[in-house]
Amino acid sequence: MPLRFLLIGDIVGKPGYRFVERVLPGLRQRERLDLVIANAENAAAGAGLTPKIYHRLLEVGVDCVTMGDHIYRRNELNPTLEKEPCIVKPANYPPEAPGRDWAVVSAADGTRVAVFSLLGRVFMRPVDCPWKTAERILATLPEDVRVIVLDFHAEATSDKQLMGRYLDGRVSAVLGTHTHVPTADEQILPRGTAFQCDVGMTGPHESILGREISQVMTTTLTFRPTIFHVAENDVRLHGSIVEVDPQTGRALSIRRLAVQEAEADELEKLGQAVTPSS
Ligand SMILES: [Fe+2]
Ligand SMILES: [Fe+2]
Repeated sequence: MPLRFLLIGDIVGKPGYRFVERVLPGLRQRERLDLVIANAENAAAGAGLTPKIYHRLLEVGVDCVTMGDHIYRRNELNPTLEKEPCIVKPANYPPEAPGRDWAVVSAADGTRVAVFSLLGRVFMRPVDCPWKTAERILATLPEDVRVIVLDFHAEATSDKQLMGRYLDGRVSAVLGTHTHVPTADEQILPRGTAFQCDVGMTGPHESILGREISQVMTTTLTFRPTIFHVAENDVRLHGSIVEVDPQTGRALSIRRLAVQEAEADELEKLGQAVTPSS
């Protein structure tokens, strides 16, 4: 039986994590998911994550949380990053930066899955080399773990394609986050790695990457700084579902997932039927 996992793209603000809470238990059921990974770097009011939101995500069915360039926006998250087993920092931050480089989590079918993330360096703040860091992580992971998932949090599509090709056949999936816009290039690379430049954003889509359009527009046109509040409308969950052979770690299929508000009620009911106590 293939293992099926979902990577949820950048969760933005309260509309984003509330939507995940509402639909994920039903989604796990409908899509027969064995594992859910979520990028939550924008979950707390659009920047960073709080311990409380982290635990809420775990309670509704997220198994592992990845972050990104907004990881250190909130100091209160640092103890969580240091102690909790199911959240990773981008592994190409320096060793002094709080958090673990990788996590091994158990899927519903019992398969152990390694999760790590890396930051790109094009149009982003410089960090350690993602390619060399990928080698270091692969050399460090327990040998018996066959299913390995990389969340490559980067801006440039070329960088993401390069990472897919670089790790093809050595990891189960290289999936991109950070741009908040899903790309239509999902594919299985020749040696069996699932790849997609970006799985998209989970949050309000009547927005500029999740923020209020008027505020971003004003600042862009006038150069006057404003606070970019998280927008509210047209909330969607974007991510991708990958099927993997748990014996070999090779990916078998990848499919983009978009859940819109129109589907949310039905999924919520399905989730309540599965977990009546929640
Ligand atoms: Fe980011
Ligand atoms: Fe983001």
